[in-house]
Amino acid sequence: MKNHKDIRLAIVGLGYVGLPLALAFAKNRQVIGFDINKTRIDQLNNGKDKNLEFNNKKIKSAKLLKFTSNSNDLNSSNCYIVTVPTPINSKKKPDLNALKNATKLVSSMLRKQDIVIYESTVYPGCVEEQCVPLLEKFSNLKYNKDFYCGYSPERINPGDKSHTISNIKKITSGSTPGIADIVDDLYNEIISVGTHKAPSIKVAEAAKVIENTQRDLNIALINELSILFNKMSIDTQDVLDAAETKWNFLPFKPGLVGGHCIGVDPYYLTHKAKSIGYNPKVILAGRKTNDRMGAYVSSTFINKMKKKKIPIKRSKILIMGLTFKENCTDIRNSGIQSVIEEFKKFDCHLDLYDPWAEKDEIYKNYKIYPKYEITNNTYDGIIIAVAHKIFKDMGIQTIKNFGKKKCVIYDLKYLFSQDEVDIRL
Ligand SMILES: NC(=O)c1ccc[n+]([C@@H]2O[C@H](COP(=O)([O-])OP(=O)(O)OC[C@H]3O[C@@H](n4cnc5c(N)ncnc54)[C@H](O)[C@@H]3O)[C@@H](O)[C@H]2O)c1
Repeated sequence: MKNHKDIRLAIVGLGYVGLPLALAFAKNRQVIGFDINKTRIDQLNNGKDKNLEFNNKKIKSAKLLKFTSNSNDLNSSNCYIVTVPTPINSKKKPDLNALKNATKLVSSMLRKQDIVIYESTVYPGCVEEQCVPLLEKFSNLKYNKDFYCGYSPERINPGDKSHTISNIKKITSGSTPGIADIVDDLYNEIISVGTHKAPSIKVAEAAKVIENTQRDLNIALINELSILFNKMSIDTQDVLDAAETKWNFLPFKPGLVGGHCIGVDPYYLTHKAKSIGYNPKVILAGRKTNDRMGAYVSSTFINKMKKKKIPIKRSKILIMGLTFKENCTDIRNSGIQSVIEEFKKFDCHLDLYDPWAEKDEIYKNYKIYPKYEITNNTYDGIIIAVAHKIFKDMGIQTIKNFGKKKCVIYDLKYLFSQDEVDIRL
């Protein structure tokens, strides 16, 4: 392949990452969008994105994009971008099954001069240690002689309409300097703010995991401070407002850390660290603190109810917000999950409400039918768990009206001011 203009592109995995990427590329070039989930493909062919990131018009107007779950359609491609999930398993170890399966599929299509670019988040070394051997084995081709690889981590932020694919600087890399140039040129077709070409695939992989590890640790620090300040009856936000007047104080907020990036990526990094005999001291300290926040939130809430002399037994609690972050539909790995698990230990009745999340998904996860509408004067306690704009727009008075005369309102996201709610995280 001489340059990026020779590329016939396929995107493998059309979720939160793959779909925006496919739509962006399809503005100017033919793209095959492949996913093993036939339902997802049928929905996309009907213009429906269940993640609510794109509307029907936007999907249907992508005339150069072909959605398919038929792997034979990948055969005409010579460049594959792999955007499949990389979660952790129950032992908090990297689960590379989807990545390996997608790699095997691509390897069966691979021809001389093809390029396989990975976007899935992995640990440094993963592409060349885990994926390349599979590509070689199932294609009978040689790495960096017959075929090449690239890595370009994704930084999109679902639900965020201002940081979109074209205006987030993107890291690119390739397995040879020439391939790195082609990969970089390819992404420059869609990124208006430019790219950063990393010197190797390993560097690009490492950059992605440390971005999220740094965030996780910083939030953990603020969470710990918030626990301390709550014990001292100091409002954390007041402290942060004061400290942030210093030019180099980093503006992190306390909160439940969920999702499939911040709470997952540090485990990828520590897995790699341990595999080469280094026992990391700092990285997982943040994880532990953030993982304990669910228990902290529920115990703080219960204590406040006791203080207000609201009986816990058979109390009615409303959880507002179940997604892992604001204004998005994704409830996987949401931080509120651990709060809900803690509440299940008490004999109280939980109502779940989230206008963004799919009702079936909520039921599948929690075995609780979510509420479509909330009635006034019903709850002994309300937790505002996600900063959906719709909750902010409701206003605190509407939310207060959901509560009984005696009710605890816990604002985990600082949506409302200190004097409008009972507790903030
Ligand atoms: N969602 C984010 O905000 C975000 C941001 C940055 C990076 N990432 C990373 O990007 C990767 C993808 O995440 P996502 O959120 O898009 O996941 P997702 O679950 O939304 O989508 C993944 C898609 O891949 C499909 N898939 C699974 N196995 C496949 C296979 N073998 N072949 C073809 N398709 C397959 C699934 O059906 C699904 O539609 C992960 O590594 C994630 O950590 C995600």
